[in-house]
Amino acid sequence: MTTLVTPENLSSYPPPPQVPGLPLLGSTIQFLNRPIEFFLECYEKYGPVFGISAASQHYVVLAGLEANQFLAQERDEYLTSRKVFGEFAAQMGSENFLIAIDGPQHAYMRKVMQRGYSKSGLGPHLNQFLRLTHERARHWKVGETIYVRDQMQRLVTEQLGTALARHSSKEHFEAIRTFLGTLLDVFIIKRYPRAILALPFYQQARRKVMEFARLVLEEHRQVNPEDAPPPDLVDDLLTAVDWNGNPLKEGDLLAATVGPFFAGMDTVANTMGFMLYAILKHRDVHEKIRMEVEEHFANGIPEWRDLPKMETLYAATIETLRRYPVAPFTPRSARKDFVFAGHRIEAGQDILVINGLTHFLPEFFPDPWTFDVNRYIKPRQEHKQGQGVFAPYTLGPHTCLGAGAAEVQLMVTVGAILQAVDLELERPDYEIVTRVMPIPGPDPNFKIRVTGQRKL
Ligand code: HEM
Repeated sequence: MTTLVTPENLSSYPPPPQVPGLPLLGSTIQFLNRPIEFFLECYEKYGPVFGISAASQHYVVLAGLEANQFLAQERDEYLTSRKVFGEFAAQMGSENFLIAIDGPQHAYMRKVMQRGYSKSGLGPHLNQFLRLTHERARHWKVGETIYVRDQMQRLVTEQLGTALARHSSKEHFEAIRTFLGTLLDVFIIKRYPRAILALPFYQQARRKVMEFARLVLEEHRQVNPEDAPPPDLVDDLLTAVDWNGNPLKEGDLLAATVGPFFAGMDTVANTMGFMLYAILKHRDVHEKIRMEVEEHFANGIPEWRDLPKMETLYAATIETLRRYPVAPFTPRSARKDFVFAGHRIEAGQDILVINGLTHFLPEFFPDPWTFDVNRYIKPRQEHKQGQGVFAPYTLGPHTCLGAGAAEVQLMVTVGAILQAVDLELERPDYEIVTRVMPIPGPDPNFKIRVTGQRKL
């Protein structure tokens, strides 16, 4: 499928077919408003490789199972993350931000952060996750409608910040959201020109977040070893050395300290929004999860490894990750010339691998647009069909390091919300709308109504 070519024979392969688009806008509107549908239509018409123009950018798109397997097997030989995420990291003063580096240095830094980002690392904090969720839910008044995306972003960021960096995000939340959202919009989605980085709203947010990172780092440095709490991600970074045996540079430490406050802001929060929608839309699923939570949360929070025993809650989590992928495309650039599916790709070209496209192919997931928790119950187990089929966290060297933690967080938090309050969709016939802002998520205007507070 993939052939490495020499400069002499590259021109004998045709370039990928180009998807026609509007003058200037290209396919921007489809990309932002109905990304999966748009890429599926292109895949059916043009095959596994095609070119699109969106957000003033030209991308070569790789899609389908072959593309996912290519990404999974690729070892930074053909693709690089540096061009896409390098400037993002530079805004935090880092040259070695995990997502922006490749090769052996990347593999090394991943190991340094593995424990801090693992689901077992979250284990001791699950009671706190439960408490933070109940506290938030207690503030929702009966009869009130709440903006799901906003509420979930605040909750998820608070949970991860306190667990992985021992610091509340509350006072800095707006700055963190603005800083991350602008970076993603400018450097990854490329919806806005980089000129907006000079504007005061962004400069202020950036300053506030970097001061916050300095504070969190300093607090960790000041901990008295005599009565030190169990080490978290930031402690691990402070004691680590880089691949040359030197202490990590201050810029890299600061950016890595911001990491936990960025990690769930859009990813987990958007998935949680979709999950609440899907559960409230399916009464039978809702009822089963309520019963599971009543049984398993009766004596406090279960151990993280026992959470999948709540079969419907677990299946609803996995089905939400499939049906509503919040990271369905992986941005890269070509490190060298190569041929994919008979078409030439040239060094330096911007690439999008649509890792979430397979979730919507009926040969893998029959009736793919239907939310169906029974897919994961034996014997179907549709998420276990081999490499590249189910890929909500993308594939390859940069596969999400917090994937296990994310699932634990989703199950505990959604379980705790349903334990604390009765909820319904604002209108029973409401159909969720996906918006790319800055990654795919529920429309920010999606609201749910609180119909009761439960006794805890
Ligand atoms: C539903 C939730 C989540 C989804 C869908 C998701 C998805 C992803 C994806 C697609 C990437 C790769 C991006 C790329 O290379 O272009 C990634 C990377 C990463 N994620 Fe997640 N993520 C989620 C939650 C989390 C959480 C909760 C954490 C931390 C606790 C986390 C930590 C990370 C880290 C550290 C990386 C960088 C890995 C590397 O570059 O080697 N993620 N995530």
